Amino acid sequence: MRVLVLNGPNLNLLGTREPDIYGDTTLEDLESLIEGWGADLGIETRFTQSNHEGEVVDAIHEAASADGLIINPGALTHTSRAIGDAISSVGVPAVEVHISNVKQREPWRAESLVAPSCVRTIFGRGVGGYQDALRHLQNRAATPFDTVAYGPNRDNVGDIRRPDGEAYGLVVLIHGGLWRQEYERDSTETLAVDLTDRGYVTWNIEYRRGREGGWPGSAHDVVSAIDFIIREMPGPPVAIIGHSAGGHLGLWASVRRENLIRLVVGLAPITDLAALARSGSVGSGDAQRLLDSGAPATVDSVAGKTILVHGEDDEIVPVSHSTHLSTGTPVEVVPGMGHFPMLDPKREHWPRVVAELGKALA
Ligand code: DQA
Repeated sequence: MRVLVLNGPNLNLLGTREPDIYGDTTLEDLESLIEGWGADLGIETRFTQSNHEGEVVDAIHEAASADGLIINPGALTHTSRAIGDAISSVGVPAVEVHISNVKQREPWRAESLVAPSCVRTIFGRGVGGYQDALRHLQNRAATPFDTVAYGPNRDNVGDIRRPDGEAYGLVVLIHGGLWRQEYERDSTETLAVDLTDRGYVTWNIEYRRGREGGWPGSAHDVVSAIDFIIREMPGPPVAIIGHSAGGHLGLWASVRRENLIRLVVGLAPITDLAALARSGSVGSGDAQRLLDSGAPATVDSVAGKTILVHGEDDEIVPVSHSTHLSTGTPVEVVPGMGHFPMLDPKREHWPRVVAELGKALA
């Protein structure tokens, strides 16, 4: 796979430009990071940066021969219809990336004239957003999928991936990201692709987050998404996999829909909002906001239908969230593992998860 990475105006000043907003990684460092992330995924990357709208348009035309485009149009995002038109014209799948959280800055930054021409917009994840964009382009190309609405809100959607031949079962995937708007279902996509390859239908869901989510909004969306897919695709046995904050929502939903599911897998799940809020670490403000909007302090689990898998060295959600949940819920503590490798089906915890799914959905 070949991907062009195109950065627009003022991104040549990364490193010195407003480092409190954009960090201290220079453009040169960023490009070599992206090159390395691409190499890890088997993606060949090329790079262009320009401060001129016409040159950005020309570079997009050159991307016609690539398999994907990653574009950070800088401030042109908010003014240029020509860039959106150029992306639509060449027909290459394009991911729009913003380093900063454009939805939480000046109101004019929240609007993108480029987004409608892009397959996804990633924002507010720092320079790591470019890595996520590479992974998303790869996963989109791996298995065909349909994005289907399960409710009235923009975020009431999910991606259905179907295996070749008859499905062994249906797996609902719930992504994490501290219930924040900037983290979306692209994070659980690699697991969805892997499980579809293994013969499962996967339903990788979005749900309302941030100011639009809260309690019980995000949790109700997850239950609606589960109800929807069972209504639409009755028959195959159902399992849920949730990562981090998605583990929290998945455990909560599984108690409400106990009769409909065979297994729920919490991957590094948040189970104790009160503890996270008290911790003062990343996510404590998010947990406090959920508590303030009425979320219960801890989640329960369905006895006999729940397993938890947690990295011993999880730097975001301490392993105690799994080990303290309740006696009787099996917990696999993975030595030396952190928070995000849980999302990588090449890592050592995954065969155990696959085996448990195989047993539960047999
Ligand atoms: C940006 C956000 C834009 O609003 C801004 O004009 C930029 C950078 C980002 O990466 O966060 O130049 O695209």
